[in-house]
Amino acid sequence: MINKKIVFANWKMNLDADSISTLVSDVSNKLKRVENVDIILAPPFPYIIKVTDMTKNTNIHVSSQNVFFEESGAFTGEVSPLMLTDVGCSWPIIGHSERRQHLLETNEMINKKVLLCTSNNLNVILCLGETFDERRQNKTFQRISDQLTRGLREVNQKMLGKIVIGYEPIWVIGSGEAARVEDIQEVHNFIYNQLRSMFPDSENLPRIVYGGSVNQTNIKPIVSLENVDGVLIGNASLDCEIFCDIVLTVGCLLYTSPS
Ligand code: PGA
Repeated sequence: MINKKIVFANWKMNLDADSISTLVSDVSNKLKRVENVDIILAPPFPYIIKVTDMTKNTNIHVSSQNVFFEESGAFTGEVSPLMLTDVGCSWPIIGHSERRQHLLETNEMINKKVLLCTSNNLNVILCLGETFDERRQNKTFQRISDQLTRGLREVNQKMLGKIVIGYEPIWVIGSGEAARVEDIQEVHNFIYNQLRSMFPDSENLPRIVYGGSVNQTNIKPIVSLENVDGVLIGNASLDCEIFCDIVLTVGCLLYTSPS
């Protein structure tokens, strides 16, 4: 089976009800003929139902930006994997560096989220990446390996098929300048080899996507790299034209105006 490429839109804590309606309707209209790319939109929690309703019977899937690691109970402010499924949301983003940094999420919490979501039939994107200091001190691979092994602890073959790995060097997120393609290539190869040695018998290893200042000018060289199966986009996903341009480039499709 050849895996499709993936493009995630991580809207973070941006947009409002009106702008989301416009963006979703424009994006789904412009991308309705795209069949060879998995397109996933991650709105803030309050707008998830709106986006799942608007994208029903389309080629667009919906993700949350976070999830909790229990199914239900006294966890004020949290959202369970079952609730996501209930409203038609088929993915969460797990372990984004902004949550690791501002909400103090640990690899152990992240691992519990991965296990609970995948055993409840949700797909997940597990994010990892190094800080600028770690890169300067040549600790990139150590950091990535640690996040990968601890984030995927006790994951079995069945769960593996529901996981995508998101490599996001923290120092380039939101900076306007992506990492160098040589560096992206090196880390993606490293992640692929790690996954291969962690799951030697698996026929379908997780897809690996890159995130960090992806835009319409740098998408082509990035997505053409070996072991780069797609991208996770923040800022550039808030603009319909730019986002659609990126998806179409990834799908190598020529866009013809919908009538
Ligand atoms: P960016 O964000 O594209 O704005 O750098 C990416 C991300 O944090 O997922």
